[in-house]
Amino acid sequence: MKIVVSGTRPTGILHLGNYYGAVRNYVRLSKDSDVRGYFFIADYHSFTTHINPTELPMLVRQTICTYLASGLDPEKVIIYVQSDVPQIAELYLLLNMLAYKGELEKVATFKEKIKLHNENINAGLLTYPVLMAADILIHRAYMVPVGKDQEQHLEMTRDYAKRFNNRYDVDFFPEPIAYNFGEELVKVPGLDGSTKMSKTGGETNAIFLNEEPDMIRKKIMRAKTDSGPTEMNSKPSQEIQNLFELMQIVSAEDVVSHYKNAWDTCTIRYGDMKKQLAEDMVNYLSPFREKINALMQDTDYLGKIVRRGGEQARESAEKTVSEVRKIMGINYF
Ligand code: TYM
Repeated sequence: MKIVVSGTRPTGILHLGNYYGAVRNYVRLSKDSDVRGYFFIADYHSFTTHINPTELPMLVRQTICTYLASGLDPEKVIIYVQSDVPQIAELYLLLNMLAYKGELEKVATFKEKIKLHNENINAGLLTYPVLMAADILIHRAYMVPVGKDQEQHLEMTRDYAKRFNNRYDVDFFPEPIAYNFGEELVKVPGLDGSTKMSKTGGETNAIFLNEEPDMIRKKIMRAKTDSGPTEMNSKPSQEIQNLFELMQIVSAEDVVSHYKNAWDTCTIRYGDMKKQLAEDMVNYLSPFREKINALMQDTDYLGKIVRRGGEQARESAEKTVSEVRKIMGINYF
């Protein structure tokens, strides 16, 4: 069996970047009968910023709904909440002993967060990659479908797996890889000209999977553009490159080549391109919106799925942690 693990922070309804960069691949991988998939909601990770306790349950439910609406089948994969598996916290503690402060301080996401949240640089933020390694190694996973922004975290997971194996002279943890079917990992751009769609980028950056058609149109029509190409076959600016990348996701191939050709020949009209992109985006996202809205009504069903998923995840996690304890000599009487 190929063990696949991945997770998402409970940021509510996910955006196109989360889906296209990661969740779509959870679904594609889970169709393989050789795969045992563990897909979770990374609620511990969300506490690195001050999350509102009264909002958290809704955010967790919405994230589960997005998993299901994207096509994850709870009969085939294990869907659970990270904090329902306390063994992850134990492995995190033990892996922390193999994680060096110097290298954690150099992690790109940590440096970015320092800039964003200068008032709250906590130890959880520093050791975020160690918790992620615990999430992955707890099921001794080999494949981790994630977007490009998680690449460095996966490298660190491999380092911790190697360090553990070397320190205790065992061949216990596999060295997991960030997986996208042999292709480069994906980074879906934002609508505001930034190279990454992200929730923190604000309303003008991201399109959510349950977005209403009118809102999708509004956001896309407002997306950043430039004053247009002045030379034939020139390189598009970042904003225009972003629109092309979004088009590549949601539009038909001939539509993309039509606008590429229009760009190359300096005949492009951004208004037309945006209208086309907006309609293709509406079509692409409509099935998600309908499913998410229906699932959000059924809290009991969602609860059942994660309770059962939690049991299955704990069983697998306990096997790993009890081996780790033995290997480390935590086995006194
Ligand atoms: P998170 O919650 O930020 O994002 C969830 C997944 O979505 C991907 N993603 C993107 N992919 C392409 N383009 C984008 N614009 C984009 N934005 C987000 C992310 O790469 C991710 O795969 N640390 C993780 C959660 C996590 C995890 C794990 C993942 C915790 N433990 C163990 C894998 C394995 C995170 O914050 O993802």
